Amino acid sequence: MAGDSNRHIVTDVEFGQPRVRFATLPTHLERGPVLAGQSRLWVKRDDLTGLGMGGNKARKLEFLCGAAVAAGATCLITVGAGQSNHCRMTAAAGAVLGLEVHLVLAGDRPAVLEGNQLLSERFGAHQHFTGAGPSEWGLLEIAREDLTDELSAQGLRPYSIPIGGSTAVGALGYIVAYQEIVDQAKALNISPQTIVFTSSSGGTHAGLVAGRAYARATGKVDVLPKLLAIGVAKGVIAGYPSVKELAQEALTIAGLPGVVLEEDIEVDARWLGEDYAIPTEASRAAIKWAAHNGAWVLDDVYTAKGMAGLLGNASQGRWGNGDDVIFIHTGGSPEVFVRHD
Ligand SMILES: Cc1ncc(COP(=O)(O)O)c(C=O)c1O
Repeated sequence: MAGDSNRHIVTDVEFGQPRVRFATLPTHLERGPVLAGQSRLWVKRDDLTGLGMGGNKARKLEFLCGAAVAAGATCLITVGAGQSNHCRMTAAAGAVLGLEVHLVLAGDRPAVLEGNQLLSERFGAHQHFTGAGPSEWGLLEIAREDLTDELSAQGLRPYSIPIGGSTAVGALGYIVAYQEIVDQAKALNISPQTIVFTSSSGGTHAGLVAGRAYARATGKVDVLPKLLAIGVAKGVIAGYPSVKELAQEALTIAGLPGVVLEEDIEVDARWLGEDYAIPTEASRAAIKWAAHNGAWVLDDVYTAKGMAGLLGNASQGRWGNGDDVIFIHTGGSPEVFVRHD
């Protein structure tokens, strides 16, 4: 499928781990409006990381694909919900690296591909529809493992990535992001109280927690913004995966000092609604609010619920006059163009 693999790829080593430079970094930290309670919003534009239309997965894929290339992989395999942003961005990474990509997806192949599926096809990925429900992650992971075995038996050397790219290696990308935010806050002369973001498979959260624990251990950072994850999947809300363990593991493989404490982890479960990918009244309102107040484009599945959580916490008085609150816009924009009949 994809073209030659040795063109514009820059690989280097970060935290002793191979890293492919896919993402446009640092992403902007944009000033937003004043919120309820007179706190100030800032939006970290991780929706603009590039790599096939952007999103948080570009940061994880820098390290995941670094590991894949170092291992001599000839193809990438991953898994996700029907409209998985992670799968679309893995397809983009494969196109850039010249690696074959196989995506194991929930649901059935639709008559017309839309959103992330349309883009994945365009990037040349093979999409394997399993018929599984969007929350049946156990079944999806088994299908990924089976496909990995099948492709290995055919003589390919797959690098197989669990759902959301949420391994300790993937989480390294958000250690980088935490450092980036701390540096940007310093340059802007602000002391952010909290960083709010959407959490689903837990890797983004784990990387940020690891980044904070590392910054705390160095003792060199004056301001350590707290982390507030808005849970949008039942698993992460129930503590699966363990963000604490994943964060500690990320620090270990990166060879960085830092101890992750139970109190470092906060997942706000109140904005999920009925289930993953089912919109709520608050998420619909957050989509309109973000579009009208900053032309930020939120998706139904992830960022709308994340922003609903941020706005809800602001209304409930979590932050006060002069507090700075950062929302990491983790992407998801292709989903906006999917028809929901
Ligand atoms: C747009 C978007 N935001 C947030 C997340 C959540 O990130 P994580 O899976 O690392 O918890 C995802 C994951 O798929 C996503 O696609």
